Amino acid sequence: MPTCQVRDCERSQARQPMRWPAEAIQEAVVEQLPGFAVEVVSQIDSTNSELMRRARAGRLEPVLLVAERQTSGRGRLGRQWFSQQGAEQTLGGALTFSLGLPLSPPDWSGLSLAVGLSVAQSLHPDLRLKWPNDIWWQARKLAGILIETANCGDQSAARYAVVGVGINIREPAAQGLATPAAWLDEVLPGVAPAQALWRVAPALVQALKTFELRGFAPLQPQFNRLDALGGSAVSLSDGTVGVAQGVDGVGALQLQTADGLQRITSAEVSLRRLNSSTSASTGHP
Ligand code: BTN
Repeated sequence: MPTCQVRDCERSQARQPMRWPAEAIQEAVVEQLPGFAVEVVSQIDSTNSELMRRARAGRLEPVLLVAERQTSGRGRLGRQWFSQQGAEQTLGGALTFSLGLPLSPPDWSGLSLAVGLSVAQSLHPDLRLKWPNDIWWQARKLAGILIETANCGDQSAARYAVVGVGINIREPAAQGLATPAAWLDEVLPGVAPAQALWRVAPALVQALKTFELRGFAPLQPQFNRLDALGGSAVSLSDGTVGVAQGVDGVGALQLQTADGLQRITSAEVSLRRLNSSTSASTGHP
């Protein structure tokens, strides 16, 4: 894996700088995404917030922004994404990055599922997906995804998509998470954040470009094969109870309830597996 050192480095002299495959990723992706750049920063509030700020300021170039540490990481449903404290994350406790690019799919439905599927498939065949896009290992949350979009300007059908991914690499220090955490080192012993990035990022660009052309429908069978909840009794945050039956061709969760099959489309719905202390509604890793 070819690597280069972080550009904006605030680490102490004593520690070895982390090496990132920035150049290799840029070269692997640029043909598909002209103008694509890779940036690595030692610290930022949130990679998603930064790319959204840039987009609102009219900066819509395709970019991968990797942060060795986030001070205000954000999760889905307005939650916080708790990073490791200070040095622990800098030393490789988590991989946090956002990919920003203009996209113009005819139908945006299922985008977040397509992203989750790509990340899971790039990392390890034993990983599973918890609708809409959490990545689980052995019923614990290993990675989370936050997707936001911004206008590309009045005339354009495209929107600038910011796809944020947070992956636990080592055991998180945070205690009392509503969802127990998993970490990639359990699945791929000795893995470094840079290696995880190399596995995930070029494949994610490819997945987004394919989604733009074909939408979610071709991915439905693959998603359902990795579905962590299929056949399980689940409850929604609005009180609905049913048995999860996988997703349909636009990524809606199919829930068999006492009143029949319901299609759940709102990402604002949180899910909890019944007969288990595991809550799937957390924003923590
Ligand atoms: C979730 O599970 O609720 C989504 C978590 C997404 C976290 C990632 S880390 C990189 C990017 N920047 C953020 O502030 N959030 C996303």
